Amino acid sequence: MASADLPAGLLDALRQAGRVVFLTGAGVSAESGVPTFRDALTGLWARFRPEELATPEAFRRNPQLVWDWYRERRRQVAAVAPNPAHCAIATLQARLPHTLLVTQNVDGLHQRAGSVDAVEFHGNLFTNRCRGCGHTAPQGDPQLAAPPPCPECGELMGPGVVWFGEAIPGEALERAWRGASEADIVLAIGTSGLVTPAASLPEVARQGGALVVEVNLQPTPLSAQADFVVTGPAAQSLPAIVAVL
Ligand code: APR
Repeated sequence: MASADLPAGLLDALRQAGRVVFLTGAGVSAESGVPTFRDALTGLWARFRPEELATPEAFRRNPQLVWDWYRERRRQVAAVAPNPAHCAIATLQARLPHTLLVTQNVDGLHQRAGSVDAVEFHGNLFTNRCRGCGHTAPQGDPQLAAPPPCPECGELMGPGVVWFGEAIPGEALERAWRGASEADIVLAIGTSGLVTPAASLPEVARQGGALVVEVNLQPTPLSAQADFVVTGPAAQSLPAIVAVL
């Protein structure tokens, strides 16, 4: 995408914004080749539904099966690299006076691209979390064959991601909602806007007076709230913004 294709007024709005919030979803990682949550259900895993692999009940029922699936996802994600969309967001965060990155992605690619202090709304694939006491720790050996016991309570530890039916970590929710309510502009990038409560963040920002920008390949339920819509691959449109900001 050329910078000339960016919506009129967007660059001025970004330059004048004091507080900028980025909300990212799987579309930002798509061009790194990260299989989306549903893409990962292929091959040996095709016969499973997400609810059989990504819920507390599934982990209680068959911890080894769930662990094996996440070990495969960790292997896949560790093998890819941040793409120009991640790098552009990290550059914007370095250039703009006050930004907050809220990501629904669990792949850690924003951090590998240089973003710091990201709010990981759905956790991080490369950590472990105990469903008994909540203890969280780095994943340790990525090829650990079985879920490790929690050092605090002895329960089995699963991946540190937020499963269907689990609450968003309190600190993540509080930081995201505070940032959105204080924002001057929010950019919803590569998210379908279907999964709550993350999908409500742009509306929280808009009610606080923020402008809403959507960066996506196609319209989503967020498009109607957007003041600016940038249609195209994030790995092209975000660098185009960086190039002229
Ligand atoms: N550039 C911009 N947008 C893109 C690109 C791209 N290259 N590729 C895909 N998209 C858009 C799609 O059009 C879609 O709107 O990214 C969005 C991806 O939507 P989802 O796969 O639903 O991802 P996300 O919105 O992050 O889902 C939220 O649901 O799957 C669960 O917990 C998982 O965090 C995830 C949550």
